Amino acid sequence: MWGAMLAGKKILLIIGGGIAAYKVLELMRLLGKSGAGIVPVMTKAAEEFVTPLSVSALAEAPVRRALFSLEDEAEMGHIQLTRDADLVVVAPATADLMAKMANGLANDMASTLLIARNKPVLLAPAMNVAMWENAATKRNAETLREDGCTFVGPEEGNMACGEFGFGRMAEPAEIFAAIEAHLLDGPLRGKRILVTSGPTHEPIDPVRYIANRSSGLQGAEIARALVALGAEVDFVTGPAEAARPEGANVIEVETALEMAAAVEAAGQLDAAIFAAAVADWRVANTSDSKMKKLAGKAMPELELIENPDILATVSQRSNGRPALVIGFAAETNDVIENATAKRKRKGCDWILANDVGGARPVMGGPDNQVILISANGAETWPWMSKKQVAEGLALRISEALT
Ligand code: CTP
Repeated sequence: MWGAMLAGKKILLIIGGGIAAYKVLELMRLLGKSGAGIVPVMTKAAEEFVTPLSVSALAEAPVRRALFSLEDEAEMGHIQLTRDADLVVVAPATADLMAKMANGLANDMASTLLIARNKPVLLAPAMNVAMWENAATKRNAETLREDGCTFVGPEEGNMACGEFGFGRMAEPAEIFAAIEAHLLDGPLRGKRILVTSGPTHEPIDPVRYIANRSSGLQGAEIARALVALGAEVDFVTGPAEAARPEGANVIEVETALEMAAAVEAAGQLDAAIFAAAVADWRVANTSDSKMKKLAGKAMPELELIENPDILATVSQRSNGRPALVIGFAAETNDVIENATAKRKRKGCDWILANDVGGARPVMGGPDNQVILISANGAETWPWMSKKQVAEGLALRISEALT
């Protein structure tokens, strides 16, 4: 969907010897599709897990294997390999490879390239949970971080050895996203972007409130994806269960009025994304003390008043409107028609619409299917994880702002 974003980029891909090596074939396919060039290097152990033939075929380049190979050296010296690359990726990064790197050993092609490199390194560790948690590996990981290496994963899950825990290699799509974030060199650097997220809580009395089912996951993922592209992100969130995005400026609020005030206080922005499920109404007659259920007393009547529409207010600013304002529309029927009308009514540039009336749950679920509605019409994206939606949106935002 996002085209050949990595065209002209070159990755020196060092494949370590672990069962996760098979996943690197998929990573190479993703890299190839995005236009990146791959120079594959395999350790001897890696050849026990995937064949150099498969790796060469997917990389569309010969695999570098031996350090002292007349053929390889005549074609291109091993030092030159790192000079020509934009990024060095080690996947799977085994405990052994990490130990060699951390200690500067250079006794094969992979470790020699790693010590001779002058390019950033991204590591995707994969190993048994006890190996990952071993004190030596921990020390090595710490050293590598201090040396400026970046890590993607490992993740928690079932492992090929039958155990469960941290050590499983990140999925190829995730490694790909990390590579992309590196190579796109922060296209949003210098841009200030605000994201609202989560539900709002509208108090009834000191213990009760009106809320909704928003988990805040989609908003948090959008903020993460924007941070990964280098943006300076203000993340204004209601009381949501989703983990807060690392690297963003997190502003916690409770009510719609507090959210509106936080957005107002943010000042000049390049873009604003309103992913929050803001309560449309708040209780006018809130009680300072807990409402009691007393025998014979009538049920309390809640008087509702409308909350300010934050998205519409920002969209219609006559002064200092962000260059790009994006809203969300959760619809149960006539999704495109309703969301198109909502875009016009609110005055925002894009609306991400989703159908919340379908069988597959969006609110509270891990996946989403969105329709991007802009002045150019409606574009339906396939079902994907909220993280992927966020990454797709962040790329679109960076195209629009730069
Ligand atoms: N929004 C906002 N402030 C509000 C209400 C909504 O910023 N007080 C934003 C949401 O963050 C979201 C979009 O507006 O981006 C969703 O609008 P929504 O409330 O769903 O639409 P309504 O205008 O209320 O229309 P409807 O009642 O038809 O759903």
